[in-house]
Amino acid sequence: MEELVALCKRRGFIYQSNEIYGGIQGLYDYGPLGVELKNNLKNAWWKSIVYNRDDVEGLDTSILTHPDVLKYSGHQDTFTDPLVDCKSCGLRFREDQIPEQCIGEELTDPREFNLMFETNVGPIIDDTSKAYLRPETAQQIFINFKNVIDSTSRTLPFGIAQIGKSFRNEITPRNFIFRVREFEQMELEFFVTPGDDEQWHKKWVDERHTWWSSQGIPKEKLKLLNVTGDDLAHYSKSTVDIMYQFPHGLEELEGIANRTDFDLGSHSKNQKELSIDAKVIENKDSNTRLAIQNENNEWIVPYVIEPSAGVDRGVLAVLNEAYTVEELDGDKKRTLLKLKKHLSPIKAAVIPLKRNNKDLVALAHTIKNSLQKFQIGRVVVENTGNIGKSYRKHDEIGTPLCITIDFDSLEKNTLTLRDRDTMEQKIIPIDNVKEFFINYFTYDSE
Ligand code: GAP
Repeated sequence: MEELVALCKRRGFIYQSNEIYGGIQGLYDYGPLGVELKNNLKNAWWKSIVYNRDDVEGLDTSILTHPDVLKYSGHQDTFTDPLVDCKSCGLRFREDQIPEQCIGEELTDPREFNLMFETNVGPIIDDTSKAYLRPETAQQIFINFKNVIDSTSRTLPFGIAQIGKSFRNEITPRNFIFRVREFEQMELEFFVTPGDDEQWHKKWVDERHTWWSSQGIPKEKLKLLNVTGDDLAHYSKSTVDIMYQFPHGLEELEGIANRTDFDLGSHSKNQKELSIDAKVIENKDSNTRLAIQNENNEWIVPYVIEPSAGVDRGVLAVLNEAYTVEELDGDKKRTLLKLKKHLSPIKAAVIPLKRNNKDLVALAHTIKNSLQKFQIGRVVVENTGNIGKSYRKHDEIGTPLCITIDFDSLEKNTLTLRDRDTMEQKIIPIDNVKEFFINYFTYDSE
């Protein structure tokens, strides 16, 4: 983990947030390469969940959330962690995460600490203007259920997907970007006919397991865990967590829950007219019936299967998997990020052999511009004048392809391609570089 954190800072993937003022614990900023990697992961998810299917719509909702949403979802009452204080040093932490220095010391009795961030909307600061930063993106999907049905005429089964920020005032954020207070989620709420839920739950567990492996995490590094007992959320009939061996241990990367009709049932008006299976509190505030009519014109409240993944945990997992140190001849080492091509922050670096040679540099820019036009991802000109150093840098940040422009490029119209993983080099005519580039990035496993 330490080596990965150092690389992330040095190369511009991830920085401690608010660092020049001492930082705020549990917050991180994504740097020039981090933002590309994160966007590439989110785009891969969006493509697989929305574009490559015919039964999912997208959504982008507000972060500030009406207190009633979180009252009926159960978050106001139950979204808590047990907090204890060490009577010896005064440190506060989660009851199940006692720091080493406090083991054996006398602790206070645990009290429930709500993880939601509260704020006020508008110039009057009192209970009437209270709002929350959403603790999950899911609730805003549920409360937009009727809007989406009305505007798309969808029938069951279908899903609504959203990627966005969520906020939790974690008592002890830790392990780099694994547990943070501001993070992003990629959530799908997939609505199905009650009775079909178990079959769809299994399908989504398989789909998501396979998707993570296409992001560069081999299936054997992922474990499926059936969540049981107290760990099962109050809304869930059954949950399978996809667990990954992070540098600090085997932990949850994504959860796939069968949320039954709890959420739509909780937020619906006229609950008594609907046969809701889940135990929900009486809703006196909603103005909308969150149900759908079946072919016999009967109102049913769909069940929901929810694959919910953390973007930041995904970034950490793919970085950890890609991080490789190779032994080379003569006691030398090579650090590289073997990222899947579609995730690499920079797709290709065009490197002129000499930084001060106008013709080489101009040709490098022409080639960069011609490849950038395909919008496959970021292409850069790397004009350091030191080929060896440039290769090392691009290995370390996961650039799959380096393109070197030398004097033969000017005289014989050729260039040299170098592959990150094999370090193999080949010379091709400049006229063929566009076709090569498109093929190289099109046949990826995304
Ligand atoms: N809507 C369901 C839900 O939010 P969750 O298990 O609490 O379920 C889903 O969160 C995913 O969000 C987790 O699997 C994890 O990847 C990510 N996540 C949750 N809390 C996080 C935190 N404090 N920091 C980073 N990621 C987090």
